[in-house]
Amino acid sequence: MRSSLLSLVILFQFCFVQTLPAQEKQIAPENDQCIKCHTHQTITFENTLTKREDKRLMNPLYILDKNHFAQGVHGRFKCTDCHPAEYSHYPHKAELKLEPLSTCLDCHGGDARYASFQFEKIDEEFQKSVHFQKSGESFTCSKCHDQHYYQAKSRNSTEVGDIVLFSNQMCMSCHSNNNKFQLISDSLKPALAQIHEWLPNQELHFKNIRCIECHTQVVDSLSVSHNIMPKEKALKNCVECHSKNSMLEASLYKYKNLQGRSQKGKLHTIIANKAYVIGAYQNNLLNSVSIILFLVVLTGILIHLIARIVKK
Ligand code: HEC
Ligand code: HEC
Ligand code: HEC
Ligand code: HEC
Ligand code: HEC
Ligand code: HEC
Ligand code: HEC
Repeated sequence: MRSSLLSLVILFQFCFVQTLPAQEKQIAPENDQCIKCHTHQTITFENTLTKREDKRLMNPLYILDKNHFAQGVHGRFKCTDCHPAEYSHYPHKAELKLEPLSTCLDCHGGDARYASFQFEKIDEEFQKSVHFQKSGESFTCSKCHDQHYYQAKSRNSTEVGDIVLFSNQMCMSCHSNNNKFQLISDSLKPALAQIHEWLPNQELHFKNIRCIECHTQVVDSLSVSHNIMPKEKALKNCVECHSKNSMLEASLYKYKNLQGRSQKGKLHTIIANKAYVIGAYQNNLLNSVSIILFLVVLTGILIHLIARIVKK
């Protein structure tokens, strides 16, 4: 009786815990007043001069993705936790846009709850990077980490591909978008495909490794290095990755905690098999053919053996 009750409780907990994350992904109800405009292509508002209802186009850059927001680390925030409360009036007051917004360090700096993320150390490393060296304060953390959508992917995702995509999108959001690039630099952005022409199979590489693998100096004490080095120091040597002691073990694949989370998949193979050489065992067709050949030989030997025993 007690054990069946216990299993019921466990079953209940299991179902509950399983459904909880989906329920949690709701944004604060107070945000309805903002998202009724900021998630739509058009806005409708009471024109206080003409006393009529007006319908206008929304600036597409000010349209947020609600689901994306809900999934971010700040998904439970009210918009007015970060933005001034006066934004609840429309038309918004012109001076509001001049008010500086909090930075990551304003909220997370010196807070023991976030010690494992090492915000101060990241800031220190970031200040050594080419971005900060060349552009100074105007290059903020938020240029890469959109405060609306940011997720701590590298520690929470179980898929290398997912981590790589999320990470590279941060760089691409600027390095393949001239408008955003020129918010910071007066020059035109160099085309990524051309710069990396020397790299064979570029598309495959960009899907499997992060930009920061080649462009940062790995710091052992940090989960993600933030010091983007000048281009002359970028990694070009194939063997650094394509060898038994791949440098990727110290960077992308160092999320060893992924091992427990993803039982199958490429990362598991890489970590489990010390002799794995990246890019060397990739031909699935050849793999299958060799397995089939092996099985055929094995059955051949078996049949031969049985035949000999029967003959005796
Ligand atoms: C009636 C529609 C409407 C509502 C409601 C609304 N906004 Fe806006 N918001 C706009 C439009 C349109 C713009 C583009 C600039 C403008 O017209 O003032 C904008 C601009 C902004 C900007 C960019 C500021 C700038 O100009 O650089 C922020 C931030 C913002 N809104 C936040 C909010 C927040 C937070 C709320 C809820 C408390 C909210 N808005 C409610 C329509 C709205
Ligand atoms: C964790 C803090 C935070 C929260 C929560 C937040 N914002 Fe923002 N928001 C920012 C920051 C920081 C910027 C400025 C980004 C920049 O300039 O790099 C910004 C910019 C904006 C802009 C200008 C467009 C842009 O992307 O630069 C709009 C519009 C906006 N926020 C609307 C909202 C709305 C609507 C909500 C609620 C659903 C919201 N924000 C919640 C921090 C926040
Ligand atoms: C206005 C204050 C504020 C700003 C600005 C802010 N955060 Fe946060 N952040 C918080 C709070 C509060 C939480 C906890 C949210 C929760 O528990 O739901 C949080 C959660 C997080 C988490 C998840 C922590 C965990 O233990 O899972 C990360 C990662 C994070 N923020 C990174 C950033 C980064 C990166 C920036 C800058 C781009 C930033 N935050 C800007 C207040 C802020
Ligand atoms: C040039 C782009 C860029 C800038 C600027 C940048 N970051 Fe990052 N950051 C990244 C990338 C890429 C990752 C790895 C992907 C991820 O978030 O998991 C990352 C990861 C993080 C993480 C998660 C680390 C972990 O252990 O899980 C935190 C926290 C963080 N950054 C904070 C900051 C702070 C604070 C600043 C400003 C001082 C900053 N970042 C500036 C690109 C950047
Ligand atoms: C396999 C290593 C590798 C990867 C992955 C990589 N890069 Fe590079 N990158 C380099 C090298 C090496 C150079 C220097 C090339 C030269 O000078 O010929 C470079 C140059 C650059 C430059 C300098 C352009 C200039 O001439 O001013 C930028 C910007 C850049 N990379 C951005 C990126 C971004 C964004 C990504 C991710 C999408 C990325 N890189 C991925 C190795 C890499
Ligand atoms: C908000 C825009 C923006 C983002 C996001 C961004 N960059 Fe840059 N990056 C620039 C600009 C602008 C330059 C030109 C130098 C300058 O003025 O800061 C640059 C320069 C570079 C250079 C060349 C440095 C040199 O020696 O000339 C490299 C390499 C680079 N970025 C890599 C990256 C990587 C890797 C990421 C993602 C982790 C990234 N960038 C994210 C804007 C950005
Ligand atoms: C930062 C690490 C890194 C560097 C540097 C690097 N690669 Fe790769 N390369 C990878 C990864 C990861 C893959 C994806 C392999 C996989 O799926 O297991 C790959 C895939 C490849 C493939 C495709 C293999 C296949 O299975 O199709 C070739 C070819 C290749 N790399 C050649 C090169 C050459 C040549 C260089 C130097 C110019 C180079 N790589 C530099 C990490 C790297």
